[in-house]
Amino acid sequence: MNSEQEHRTKIQEYYTIAQPYYRFMWHGKSLGLHYGLWTENVTSRTSAIIKENEIMADLAGIKENDLVLDAGCGIGGSGIWLAEKRKANTVGLNIVDRQLTRGRHLAEKEKLGQKVDLLKGDYQRLPFKDNMFDVFWSLESIEHATNLEDFMKEAFRVLKPGGKIIIAATFLGDKKDISPEEKRQIDVGQSVAGCFNDFRTAEANVEIMKEAGFVNLQNLDRTEWVMKSSGQMTKMCRMGLPVARVLSALHAVSPILVLNNQWGTYQEGLFKSGATSYNILLAVKP
Ligand SMILES: C[S@@+](CC[C@H](N)C(=O)[O-])C[C@H]1O[C@@H](n2cnc3c(N)ncnc32)[C@H](O)[C@@H]1O
Repeated sequence: MNSEQEHRTKIQEYYTIAQPYYRFMWHGKSLGLHYGLWTENVTSRTSAIIKENEIMADLAGIKENDLVLDAGCGIGGSGIWLAEKRKANTVGLNIVDRQLTRGRHLAEKEKLGQKVDLLKGDYQRLPFKDNMFDVFWSLESIEHATNLEDFMKEAFRVLKPGGKIIIAATFLGDKKDISPEEKRQIDVGQSVAGCFNDFRTAEANVEIMKEAGFVNLQNLDRTEWVMKSSGQMTKMCRMGLPVARVLSALHAVSPILVLNNQWGTYQEGLFKSGATSYNILLAVKP
């Protein structure tokens, strides 16, 4: 197995095992595997998760019948929301079968099967023709990329002229002196969920987007708005960690869940220290 395949296998294993935990412990009815944005009037994580869809859709100006590619779509939550609320046509792309199966079921249940397609594929090698999509949407998925240049080039290729790319993600923060402990914590994220293989600052990502050909770039730091969710994750994972350790020692659950709980306890601190940041990047294909 080459390192690309190993990387994909790690992601597939992680999301296959973690799927029920996301479902029952995190997203509820929102169907989103992301932090969510706690703007002024948001009072719950479910609303924050939906709010993030809303904010991104507004920034990208998504309108009726636009064709949106949701690259790294989880269980299709954003695509379903965009189809229902913005009347867009959406294609969710993912490498994890379990999530795709769940997403298809959810889209059918919402009677949105005609507007929501879910396909297996790698966002660094998109199985689509040039100039197809109005919007390329990546919500907390670029963290898994192994080559950001390939990711941006592919996004550029499949967008129509005038099409928009919108990315929300955790990036390497601007803090100059990442401590050995912070580096160790980031490495846990890498080892458990296959993220941060090509970890660079939001500004560095903007440069790569420019090189790919994008114009009108915006880089919005929204770290403040994810602090509540990352705080909730810390609490949840601190409680879950001892349980996961015992169950894993008894071979009742996968050791991935121990690492996952560990990783969950680090994310808030990394944002607080500036080792990481949460940004939304927006640009246009001329
Ligand atoms: C944190 S989840 C976010 C899911 C979704 N965007 C959401 O907000 O609910 C990251 C997703 O990216 C997907 N992913 C990771 N690497 C990928 C790749 N190379 N190609 C396509 N999807 C990928 C994972 O399988 C997972 O579904």
